[in-house]
This record gives sequence, C-alpha cells and structure tokens, in this order.
Amino acid sequence: MSRHPQLRLKWACDVQLDKARAAAKHFGVPEVTDDFMAIVKDPEVDLIKIATTHEVHLPIIEAAAQAGKHIFCEKPMAMRDDEAYRIMRAVRTHQVKLCVDLNRRMAPALQALKKAWQAQVAAPRHSAWRYMEQQRAMLPEEDHTHLLIRIQDESSSYGLGHLDPLTGGGEIIGESVHWLDLACWFFAPQRPVEITAWGSSRLSHGIHLKFSGGDSMTLTFSCFGTFDYPKELFEVTAKASLMRSLFFVENNYYGIPGAAAETFPMQHYSGKIKDEGFDAYLRKYEERTKDATKGLKQLEQDEPFLVDKGHKHLLDAFVQAILLDQPSPCNELDGFISTYLAQRAIESIELRQTLPIPVEKITPCIGGRF
Ligand SMILES: NC(=O)c1ccc[n+]([C@@H]2O[C@H](COP(=O)([O-])OP(=O)(O)OC[C@H]3O[C@@H](n4cnc5c(N)ncnc54)[C@H](O)[C@@H]3O)[C@@H](O)[C@H]2O)c1
Repeated sequence: MSRHPQLRLKWACDVQLDKARAAAKHFGVPEVTDDFMAIVKDPEVDLIKIATTHEVHLPIIEAAAQAGKHIFCEKPMAMRDDEAYRIMRAVRTHQVKLCVDLNRRMAPALQALKKAWQAQVAAPRHSAWRYMEQQRAMLPEEDHTHLLIRIQDESSSYGLGHLDPLTGGGEIIGESVHWLDLACWFFAPQRPVEITAWGSSRLSHGIHLKFSGGDSMTLTFSCFGTFDYPKELFEVTAKASLMRSLFFVENNYYGIPGAAAETFPMQHYSGKIKDEGFDAYLRKYEERTKDATKGLKQLEQDEPFLVDKGHKHLLDAFVQAILLDQPSPCNELDGFISTYLAQRAIESIELRQTLPIPVEKITPCIGGRF
C-alpha cells in the first residue's frame, strides 16, 4: 500500500502501540494510534485496511461502514457465518465497498492456469500418441475436471493466536479460506454443493469440495513441512490433460500438443539471478538463505522476497473499483462463502460426515440485496 501511486497512508493503528509505531516508521506513516475509532472518525480517510486478528473484523467493519469508509479486510472475513452475515449487512446498508484479501484469484500464474483449462475444456487438444483402448464416448463422470491443491507448511511458524479458537480458529478458517475461495473462483459459475473434510481443523487436514457441474477440488494441507520448499502446488486434470502451477512461478501443460511452459516474475526479488521459473526460484531461495545468519522473519523485513500470489493486483483492482465505482474484485459475498465453506469443513471433520452446501445459504438476501 505504501508504494501504490494512488494511495497515501495516514494512520497506523495497533492496540499494542509499539507495533503501530514500528509499522509507521517502516512504511513512512505520519499518524499513530491504538484506537481504530480515531481513524474511523477522520474525514480525510477513504479506505481502512484491517489486518488484525479475525475476531475484531466485525466491530471495525461495522464502525467503518457506518462512517462511509471503504474497507480492505484480511482473510478470513469472519470466523463464522453469523458474523459474516452482519458484515454483509453493514457493507450493503451503508453502500461502501469491501474487498477481502483472498488474493490467489489474482495471481498471474493461476489466471493463466484457468485460461488454459477453459481453452482445453472448450476445444480439447490431444497428442497424436495419446493411449486409448478404443474410440468411445466419455462416460458422464469422465467429463469432469479435478483441481488438486497441495499445501505444505511448517507449523512451528504459527503464532498461537492463529490457533486460538477465539482469535484465530486454526488453519482451515485462517488459511484454507484462500483455496476454498480459489476453487469457487476457478469453477464459477458452478457453485459448491457438497463438502467432505478430514484430519484436524486446527492443523493438518484435507478438504474435498464438489461443484454443481460435477467438477471438484481436493486440498491437502500438511503442517509437517518446511519453508525450504515451496508451499503451494496446483494441478488441474481435465479432458485427458494435466495443467500444473508450481508455486506461482511456472506453469506446465501436459497432454496438450504445442502448449509451452510459462514462467512468471516474482513480486519481490533483489538478488542476482535473472532466470525465471521453478528451478530458478529454488536457486534464488538458496542464494538468499545459504549464508544467512538472521532468521527468515528478519530477512523478510529487511529484503522482501515474494512470489506473485496476487496481493498487488488485488489491491490495485480494489483501488480502481473505488475510484471508478465498479464492483469489488473480491466482495462481501466471496468473503461470506469462503468463511461458510471453512465452517462447514470444520463441522464435517467434527461429525465425520459429508455435508451439503445449501444454495439458500450461499445466496443470502441481506441488506435488501443478494
Ligand atoms: N492475505 C494474505 O495472504 C495474508 C497473509 C498473512 C496474513 N494475513 C492475515 O493478516 C492478519 C494478521 O496476521 P498477522 O500474522 O500479522 O497477525 P498478528 O497476530 O501478528 O497481528 C495482528 C495484530 O492485530 C492487533 N490488533 C488486535 N486487535 C486490534 C484492534 N482492536 N485494533 C487494532 N489492532 C488490533 C494485534 O495487537 C496484533 O498486533 C490475519 O487475519 C491473517 O489471516 C493474510
């Protein structure tokens, strides 16, 4: 935000004032407070970014919306459906724009993956050497797409606040909302109809989400991994092809004649390696860490190193939406649906059951709109 040409930062707020001061110093923000109402009451403020723990999104959004401020809210939008409904009502009643930072839908690599998948589904291309027993029509369930999302993470990096049931709620609500939202964006206009989850709602888990057209997403989230290898891998299988995205830096397409690999630049990288792609990413990471004496957290602050997960593009799209009075790129309904799906996944784990996603639940009539 501090680098965005159309934004000027005025306030940094944290109930722990020393953190607000540190952020203000780092990003060149003139005013500091420990009371978010000081910002809500400031007539010069147009947009409030919320990056607190999850449980205070609702009171801040209700106050900000009432004061006519637009809101950029960190994910998850809320911890439960009832809170999310109240957020929807506040935003719609006061006609402000809200964007939830579910940024993966804006990642260039995932936008390219979706485009390639749509092209393959619309007009399938196959290699001449494709193995087929005999020419025959597809059975109905052979005609679907599967999206596999593999997450590996290192749980020792999690603050306990993220696992606290009152402030964080665990990794499904805190993190997997990203990939639940991504699957809904990927398969839209299909809607999610059924969810099955297993494992621990707090740490490692799996989720299977089925869509109205028969397509589906499986997420596997392991907390037993390492920061020394990329966290996110996406693999789409459809119409006798496999399309994959390796950690936002490289896409590969198999079974589609002529489809070349694509590489994507990192959002932040200041080292010497000029190549792009997955192998180059691993070399860049090694270059950065091999002689490091400080921890990764400090390194992040001193030299940002980040693949393009869509953060900048989502912020930019939201700023344009405000300036041009256009729809938010990830609005309160998207925030509600990802919250609700996470909540249903947790219930599915607790009940050890597959659960329906009723259509009336994800198309709510709130604030006179749906
Ligand atoms: N979209 C993404 O890709 C992405 C990435 C990382 C983190 N996040 C989200 O960012 C948020 C913050 O994560 P974090 O790791 O920095 O958490 P954190 O717990 O380190 O920081 C949260 C801060 O909020 C402050 N806070 C709590 N209540 C407040 C209030 N009423 N007013 C002002 N400040 C208050 C706390 O004092 C704390 O400093 C989380 O919601 C997380 O899910 C999103």
